[in-house]
Amino acid sequence: MEEVSEKDLQRLIDSEKGTVSREIFVDQTIFDLEMERVFARSWLFVGHEGFIPNPEDFFASRMGKDPVILTRNKQGEILVFLNSCTHRGMKLCRYDQGNARAFTCPYHGWSFSTNRDIVEEPGELVGVPHFKDGYGEHLDRKRWGLVRCPNVVVYKGTIWANWDPEAPPFLEWLGDMHHYLDVALDHRDGSPGGSEVIGGVQKWRVKTNWKIVAENFIGDMYHDISHRSVDTVGIGPGGKGRRDAQRPRLAIGFSELGHGVLGELPYTAEPDYAPTFASHPDVEAYYRKVYDDRVRNLGDRPRVTNSVGTIFPNMSFHSKQPRTILITHPISPTEVELWRLYLVDADAPQAVKDAARHYYLRYSGPGGMTEADDMENWTYAIGSSEGAIARRQDFNYQLALGKAEPVPGLQGAVQSGSYSEENQRIFYRRWAQFMSRAEWDSLMPQATPAKARSHGD
Ligand code: FES
Ligand code: FE
Repeated sequence: MEEVSEKDLQRLIDSEKGTVSREIFVDQTIFDLEMERVFARSWLFVGHEGFIPNPEDFFASRMGKDPVILTRNKQGEILVFLNSCTHRGMKLCRYDQGNARAFTCPYHGWSFSTNRDIVEEPGELVGVPHFKDGYGEHLDRKRWGLVRCPNVVVYKGTIWANWDPEAPPFLEWLGDMHHYLDVALDHRDGSPGGSEVIGGVQKWRVKTNWKIVAENFIGDMYHDISHRSVDTVGIGPGGKGRRDAQRPRLAIGFSELGHGVLGELPYTAEPDYAPTFASHPDVEAYYRKVYDDRVRNLGDRPRVTNSVGTIFPNMSFHSKQPRTILITHPISPTEVELWRLYLVDADAPQAVKDAARHYYLRYSGPGGMTEADDMENWTYAIGSSEGAIARRQDFNYQLALGKAEPVPGLQGAVQSGSYSEENQRIFYRRWAQFMSRAEWDSLMPQATPAKARSHGD
């Protein structure tokens, strides 16, 4: 395709009929537009507070195709900058993580500071070789400071950023989907926050399209057949038992926001405790204790539990079994870079953290048994859709079409049973809104530089 018109979009995404053209998964023009219209305007997960605990720590992240630096300045502010030197584009920071008093470019040596004791605006250019004899001291060091992302928010340890000056506040973007995300981020005893990331981030590349991954975690119970072999072997949390031992879940989607989960409706009485770690009595004792604390802490407040979901566009999570975050970074129409982070209660004993880590790694990530099944599906589905004939065909999303019902107690949510593609239809409708030229013009008339908003709103 050479360009995407409104008519094209209607043809590409037909959520009434439940069809989506394969073009949106393989076409370079569509991919380029996605970077501009979806990724440059969405709240994106960029990291975790635990990656930058100290002043002047940094973590190299991504927002769409843009590399970014996530850093904490000397004053403790959390900041996000484009990781590209303003002089001639060199990738400024090529380490994954570390601590630096200033960012100095390896190409011609420009350096930038975030320290408010030295600069007015974090990211300013502070060091330029030949400033006197070459530029006659006339180079505007403020004008050539690092490009700073205007919106950065911390939510229960997770850090999110959005390039759009007109972006809605993060909590509005998340909506009542927060109930499901909270289960992953809150302590197992029900108190808010209290989780930490074990170790670092698993990163690996897969030949697929980012949307196939996002929709896989948005509420697709239908593909469980792929995991038949995993379901018959004992990879459960305690080293035995099925990985899928859990209560029935429903596809619950947020119609306006584009998010969705496979999860439970809110309930008030905690289900009975289910022992899982028979061969690790100390681990079992911990889970028993936090279960009792949870019952006491939450009382009869509505809560949800084990779920797997996607927050539009590319942040997916498992809240309990296992407890992990997956970011799907788009690299090209047919390639992604996957980042998995694993969460545990920060104050849990080491034995509990070790048992969780062992379970997480046999389940998820590049060596995880369940992820291996999924990766095979994602790779072959896109690989067999690239050809001249294949790309003219549609994908089918007609499962449980017309069955959506409102969910009491969750703003804007609908549910459509355990086996449904309603959440995928919602996701692609949201995607089409972002991709629409008319919507784009009304939502983002000009890309004016935003006045930087501090984190925490
Ligand atoms: Fe960074 Fe030249 S590209 S100093
Ligand atoms: Fe799967």
